[in-house]
Amino acid sequence: MEPPLPTPSKLRALPAVVSPLVLLAGCAVQPLTMPPADITAYVVLGEQGVAIARVITAAATCPALTVDGQPLAMTVRALPATLPQRPTASKPEDSKPSVFPQLTCEATLPAGAVAASVQGQALPLPRAAPQRIAILGDSGCRMKKKDNEFQECNDLQRFPFATVAAAAAAWKPDLVVHVGDYHYRENACPEGNAGCAGSPWGYGWDTWVADLFAPAAPLLKAAPWVVVRGNHESCERAGQGWWRLLDPRPLLPGRDCNAKADDSNGDYSDPYAVPLGGDAQLLVIDTAATTWKGFKPGTTGYEKYRDTYRKLDALSQHTTWNIGLTHHPILGVGAEIKPNGDYDWHKGDLGLQQSFGSLNPRLLPDQVQTMLSGHVHLWQQLSFSSGHPSQFVAGFSGSAEDTVPLPAVLPPQAMPAPGVTVEHFSSWIDGFGFMGLERSGPGDWNVTVFDRHGQIKNRCKISGRRSVCDVAQVK
Ligand SMILES: [Fe+2]
Repeated sequence: MEPPLPTPSKLRALPAVVSPLVLLAGCAVQPLTMPPADITAYVVLGEQGVAIARVITAAATCPALTVDGQPLAMTVRALPATLPQRPTASKPEDSKPSVFPQLTCEATLPAGAVAASVQGQALPLPRAAPQRIAILGDSGCRMKKKDNEFQECNDLQRFPFATVAAAAAAWKPDLVVHVGDYHYRENACPEGNAGCAGSPWGYGWDTWVADLFAPAAPLLKAAPWVVVRGNHESCERAGQGWWRLLDPRPLLPGRDCNAKADDSNGDYSDPYAVPLGGDAQLLVIDTAATTWKGFKPGTTGYEKYRDTYRKLDALSQHTTWNIGLTHHPILGVGAEIKPNGDYDWHKGDLGLQQSFGSLNPRLLPDQVQTMLSGHVHLWQQLSFSSGHPSQFVAGFSGSAEDTVPLPAVLPPQAMPAPGVTVEHFSSWIDGFGFMGLERSGPGDWNVTVFDRHGQIKNRCKISGRRSVCDVAQVK
């Protein structure tokens, strides 16, 4: 969904994270374009929850980690490079080569490690059974020429990801899940637009710093991240950075999004499980290249996502309680208002419904209790009396928000998929924040919806596949 931009504001605020160089320059308001430290260090969880430390550094060689008092060498994941300009989602004149001037280093952290650090900076380590999980999504600052949408990236009120990330870090999560769409600064800020003036653009490291690594710095220090891939990280958009920086699996030639001819490889990857202990696990599902327009049987996407479904089904058999993570909500709903005032309902992702639905008319494996997604720029919960898993949408962490009001009760024409019956529906539009998930029993989770400052806006309970929230329409 492409939301309308909020109205411009003259309010300006200091970014929460300001680099020393910006302070030295004496400017009160600057875009977050510099890394917060000499190195950028973080931990992502991969297949079977293996913890991978990543370090991005301007040094010529990778630093060593210190793990439980012992040195642990890092290996080079990606060398510095200027990647030649490739076909992108934008016109060639609005695209450019992607520059990654730093080294990407990585090391697998041994299971059970108690302490890890790099150059004196502590790394967050995973817990075997995380109790508190922070969920966020759709967090970058939109700069898109095609739709003439330029968010006010320099205004912390209008691009509040740094505030949201700080609040999520203060909540002290054991684990962070980002449901995708990290990168939004695709095209140059127009001349004379003070809201985004000075922002980097394109798909190189500088934009990744501005959209993710600078504003999210406290949250990257707070806990390991499970990273879900969004459509903004498809090969024709920020896929190069996705593979160099975020995906936990190996960076392979031909899967790196560098050549358009390889996109049918780089745009897809297999689902994997991250155990949560207590007979629960996350299922991380790459849906970067699906489309709400749907697929014809036999096309690449249709067959790739059928393959995804089969692997998902097999993974889901390994435990009782599965929480599926797809950037695109297969069972969510959004709305636009047509010029005549009628609602134009955006239902669950048709590409996934068609491909998954061709193998299972119920759309998802029986062992999946809940789906967590983003893509629609709001917060939302749906529970079904038709046996489908609950769906939560948490695409509300920094990118310009949807503003079309959603009703307390969905009308029949707004059901997100054929054959589903919505039992409970709850939403919050035009608000920024994050969602907390706390374990309360086998198959049971307490959900808290927080605003950007960490104030509670709603509470829900998940029990098995059902969920219900205190407030239907959060104001
Ligand atoms: Fe998206």
